[in-house]
Amino acid sequence: PAERAALKEKIKRLLEERNAVMVSHYYVHPDLQDLAEETGGIVSDSLEMARFGREHPAQTLVVSGVKFMGETSKILSPEKRVLMPDLDATCSLDLGCPEEEFDAFCNAHPDRTVVVYANTSAAVKARSDWLVTSSCALDIVGALKAKGHKILWAPDKHLGSYIQRETGADMVFWNGSCIVHDEFKAFELEDLKKQYPNARVLVHPESPADVVALADAVGSTSAILKAAREMDAREFIVATDNGMMHKLRTLNPGKVFIEAPTAGNSATCKSCAHCPWMAMNGLAGLAHVLETGANEVFVDPAIIDRARVPIDRMLAFTA
Ligand code: 13P
Ligand code: SF4
Repeated sequence: PAERAALKEKIKRLLEERNAVMVSHYYVHPDLQDLAEETGGIVSDSLEMARFGREHPAQTLVVSGVKFMGETSKILSPEKRVLMPDLDATCSLDLGCPEEEFDAFCNAHPDRTVVVYANTSAAVKARSDWLVTSSCALDIVGALKAKGHKILWAPDKHLGSYIQRETGADMVFWNGSCIVHDEFKAFELEDLKKQYPNARVLVHPESPADVVALADAVGSTSAILKAAREMDAREFIVATDNGMMHKLRTLNPGKVFIEAPTAGNSATCKSCAHCPWMAMNGLAGLAHVLETGANEVFVDPAIIDRARVPIDRMLAFTA
């Protein structure tokens, strides 16, 4: 604890000295979430992380999350320095959607509007017409459908099929998934619901369809937080990364939050309910990058110019 406290003080001092601000996702370690808020930064979902970084005047953004979040910040603020505690922190959706194969998939469907989830590389974003995050995907695809668009969706098949069920849009899908949410299991969830008959079930839409079907509320990390605050219940079963528990519990002290079941237990399942890449973000790494300027995020300027278009569309749509 003494070492943690010393690291936190060092980070606070360095943030000031370097004119830097912290942007953290809800899935990173509670220390990094709290530090961001204590120092004038933000802890949020991926949509608000993008917006906050663009609008904040600090010249250095320190992004605690995964690679696509750092890249999105850089695309939106190319003049700023973007640092990350660990540049190897990525995402199974990003890894599972390589640029060249994705380009071929798009070329095979030239009549479709390309809608890409934020959890992708800068190059894949550059090939898209629209970017979405889980907090705005339904509204954006719904609006495109209303204008007669047929959709090519990538990369998360569960989120895509959820949106198709909700909007009735004509969609073709890339076959990607999140290794964390893909592990939630409907059969075991039904059993847990019997143990907690008054509990409400909160589900992130990267989860499989049979898990989503058991939900009382489906939505992005920020939508899950909102539902937990607003729903008149004391117990909640939560099907998303357990990094969310920190904010859920601190903002709702009288309520009980229970992790939704996954296939294995934590001894046999490496990614059960916690993203291994989000877990790579830590205090020591953060202090190191602030001190040395290491782990700067770079994106090819030609890609920035193209990737910015679909991201700006999303931010304007959700403004
Ligand atoms: P949100 O956009 O809901 O924060 O989700 C990001 C993510 O990586 C979910 O696994
Ligand atoms: Fe990617 Fe899933 Fe990790 Fe989110 S939780 S960063 S979608 S692997």
